Amino acid sequence: MSLESEIKRRRTFAIISHPDAGKTTLTEKLLLFGGAIHVAGAVKSNKIKKTATSDWMEIEKQRGISVATSVMGFEYEGYKINILDTPGHQDFAEDTYRTLTAVDSVIIVVDAAKGVEAQTRKLMNVCRMRNTPVIVFVNKLDREGRDPFDLMDELEAELGIAVCPLSWPINMGQHFKGVYNVYGHNLQLFTPNKQTISQAVDVDIRSAALEQHVGDADAAKLRDDLEIIEGVYPAFEHARYLDGQLAPIFFGSALNNFGVKELLDCFVQVAPSPRPVQAVERVVDPYEEAFTGFVFKIHANMDPNHRSCIAFVKVCSGRFERNVNYRHVRHGKMMRFSSPTAFMAQKKETVDEAYAGDIVGLPDTGTFKIGDTLTAGEQLHFKGLPSFSPEMFKYIENADPMKTKQLEKGIAQLMDEGVAQLFINQFNGRKIIGTVGQLQFEVIQYRLLHEYGAQCRWEPLSLHKACWIESDNEAELEAFKKRKAQYMAHDRDGRDVFLADSAYVLQMAQQDFKDIRFHFTSEF
Ligand code: G4P
Repeated sequence: MSLESEIKRRRTFAIISHPDAGKTTLTEKLLLFGGAIHVAGAVKSNKIKKTATSDWMEIEKQRGISVATSVMGFEYEGYKINILDTPGHQDFAEDTYRTLTAVDSVIIVVDAAKGVEAQTRKLMNVCRMRNTPVIVFVNKLDREGRDPFDLMDELEAELGIAVCPLSWPINMGQHFKGVYNVYGHNLQLFTPNKQTISQAVDVDIRSAALEQHVGDADAAKLRDDLEIIEGVYPAFEHARYLDGQLAPIFFGSALNNFGVKELLDCFVQVAPSPRPVQAVERVVDPYEEAFTGFVFKIHANMDPNHRSCIAFVKVCSGRFERNVNYRHVRHGKMMRFSSPTAFMAQKKETVDEAYAGDIVGLPDTGTFKIGDTLTAGEQLHFKGLPSFSPEMFKYIENADPMKTKQLEKGIAQLMDEGVAQLFINQFNGRKIIGTVGQLQFEVIQYRLLHEYGAQCRWEPLSLHKACWIESDNEAELEAFKKRKAQYMAHDRDGRDVFLADSAYVLQMAQQDFKDIRFHFTSEF
C-alpha cells in the first residue's frame, strides 16, 4: 500500500467523558467490533476505583496496567483505528490534555441522565482550543434519562458547539424501543443484551410498519420529533464538523451494545485522517515522505524491579522505521531505536514501521521530555503542548541536605515527564510545585525517595491561579512586576508567571493593568 493510502485510512482519536459516563464500556465495545477482543469485560478499566482515591500506589498499579491500553489499535473495514486512552481520574487531567494534542478527533460520552458534567466541559475547552472535531455519544438510554431535546440544548450551550442529531431515541429507560438512524435512514430496535449486536431494520418511517415495530404512541412521537429536528437543527455538514464547529450526536447504550456500530460506521467515514500539524517553523503535512513526530506522553513504570519509561510519540508525517537514525531536535543528536513498540489490540509489540497518525512507544531512559520533536534531520519544533494553570501549589523543600543534587535531578526529570509544573519565585528563589490534584504531591514525594534517594518536604502555599503574563507596554509590565514582586515567578522556560493568591486579586490586577494580558495556559 502506498504511503498516502496508509495514512488516509488512519483514524486516531480519544474517547473522553466525565468519570462513569461509560468511556471504558464504549471503548470495549469498539474493540469488540474491531475483533480486537472477543469477550466483553476484557478491557481493564483505566478508571481509578472510587474506593482507592486516597491510595495512590493502588492508582499507580492501575496506571501501570493501563500502559498496555494507552493506545489501542485495531483494523475495521479497511481502516486502521487508534484509540488513545485518557486517565479517568481528574488528578491526572493534565495527561488527558496532552493526549488530546495527539489525536485528530474526539468522541465525547455523555450520560443521558446527567448531561454535561464538569470534566466534560473542561475537556471540551481543550478540544475547542485546537478546533478538534467532536462526535457526542449520549449513553445509558436503557435508563431513565433527560428529555433528548433538553439534552441537545444543554450540549449546545455548555459545549459551545452547534449540534446535529444523527440518531434519535424512541423512548427511554424501561420503555426504550431503539433509535432511528437519521444518518442511515433505518430503525435500530433495542433488545437488551450485553453480548450480541442489535440488528437494524429498514423501515420507511412514513409507513405503518413503524407502528408495528414501536407501537402507535411512540411512532407518532418519533414522526413529530423528526419534524422538529429537521426544522431546528442544522443538517450534517462535513466541513463544519471537520472545523470543530458542528458535533454530530448519537444515542445508545454502550453496555447493551446498542447504537455503537452506527457510531463506529459513521465515525470511520466522517472522522478525519491525520491532519497537518503546526510546527514553529512551518506547517507539516502528514503526507510528506520524511518522518516527523513529537513526544506527548511519558509513562514511568513504578515497579522498582523494572524501572523504565516509555515515551509515546505521535507520528505527524511520513513513515517511522525501526533502526533508522532520527534527529532528537532538542539534543541536536541522531538516535536510532531498535525496539519501538506499537499497540495493537491490547498487546504491545515491536514494530518495524509506523505511519502518520500512529503512536509508537520508545523505551526511554531520561532522554525525552514532553513536547520533544523527532525528525529525519530537519530542524523543527512542534508546538501545541500547553501547560495549564495548576490548581494546587506547594513549596518544595529539601529534607536531606546531603542529597541536594539528587533532589535537583529528580525534580528536573519528573517535570520533564510532565508529572507537575515547577515555578521559581523571583523574589525569594524558592521552588514551587503546581499540580492538578493532591495525588501528584504524593507521587512526587514517593518517586523522589525511591528513584533518586532524595527527600522532600512540602510547605503549604495558598494560591488561586498561575497566569502567564505578557504585554506590548514594557513600562506597564515592569511596573506590574515591581508591584507584584513577591508573587512573580519563572516557569521552567524562564517565562514570567504571576501567582495570584485569590480570584479577587487577579480581577483587580486585570482592572489596574489593562495593557497586560493574563493567560491561563502556557501557549497563547
Ligand atoms: P467510565 O470509563 O466513563 O468511567 O465509565 P464505565 O465505562 O466504567 O461505566 C461506568 C458505569 O456505567 C459502569 O457500571 C458501567 O457498567 C455502566 N454503564 C456503561 N454504559 C452503560 C449503559 O449503556 N447503560 C447502563 N445502564 N449502564 C452503563 P459500574 O457499576 O460502575 O461498573 P461495573 O461493575 O458494571 O463494571
